[in-house]
Amino acid sequence: MGAEAGSSELPKATRRIDPAEISARHRYHLMTSLVVPRPIGWLSTWSGDGVANLAPFSYFSAICVSPMLVGVSIGNRNDGYKDTLVNLRARGAFCVNVVTEALMLPMNESSASVEWGVDEFELAGLARAESDRVDAPFVAACPAVLECTVRMEVDLGDIPNTLVIGEVIGVRLSEELTFEDDTLLVRPESLRPVGRLGGAAYGVIREVERVLRPDLR
Ligand SMILES: Cc1cc2nc3c(=O)[nH]c(=O)nc-3n(C[C@H](O)[C@H](O)[C@H](O)COP(=O)(O)O)c2cc1C
Repeated sequence: MGAEAGSSELPKATRRIDPAEISARHRYHLMTSLVVPRPIGWLSTWSGDGVANLAPFSYFSAICVSPMLVGVSIGNRNDGYKDTLVNLRARGAFCVNVVTEALMLPMNESSASVEWGVDEFELAGLARAESDRVDAPFVAACPAVLECTVRMEVDLGDIPNTLVIGEVIGVRLSEELTFEDDTLLVRPESLRPVGRLGGAAYGVIREVERVLRPDLR
């Protein structure tokens, strides 16, 4: 009999892994296939000289509600900082475009490692719009956009990695989105968000289950 919910029985075969004894590549495989599904922060920025940039980051999450804060962890390229980090530092702002099923393929196109100065909106065939609240562009077709200013940076890791914390100072929502009764809870059936799993795998929402917390029943 396997371990059931509530049982104290351990699974029969357990493979134990010490992160200090495996390669960085294998640590990456474990992290990205076990911390799942991850929201994708699809960040749009301007460079200092006005070129638009768009790139996805799944080391991304909501981290505080008052103020509304998000965190995104940006790794280095072999030859230096990723364009998104350079731009965030130059402009102090970014937009987070929520990745929906309809935008999944262009999101992936925008992750290509291209030369400095290449506009990934053009590369991915996406129309661009400009925020009037923060100094950043956003994906015009995206139904939900968080307009953010940079609050702080934290250095992480041996392989240089930077956690950027941003404050959401504006939210743009398409009129097509619907909400749970009398709230600002966006219905996932109307948003159709995509989560990242390990490697090339993504999770799309085919069915939503609602489970009320014990003290709300
Ligand atoms: C779904 C997805 C998630 C990604 N998540 C991250 C991430 O969390 N951190 C990171 O540094 N790179 C991540 N990448 C890779 C970057 O998108 C990629 O390096 C991109 O070229 C960076 O663009 P930039 O140089 O214009 O900033 C991800 C790629 C994909 C497709």
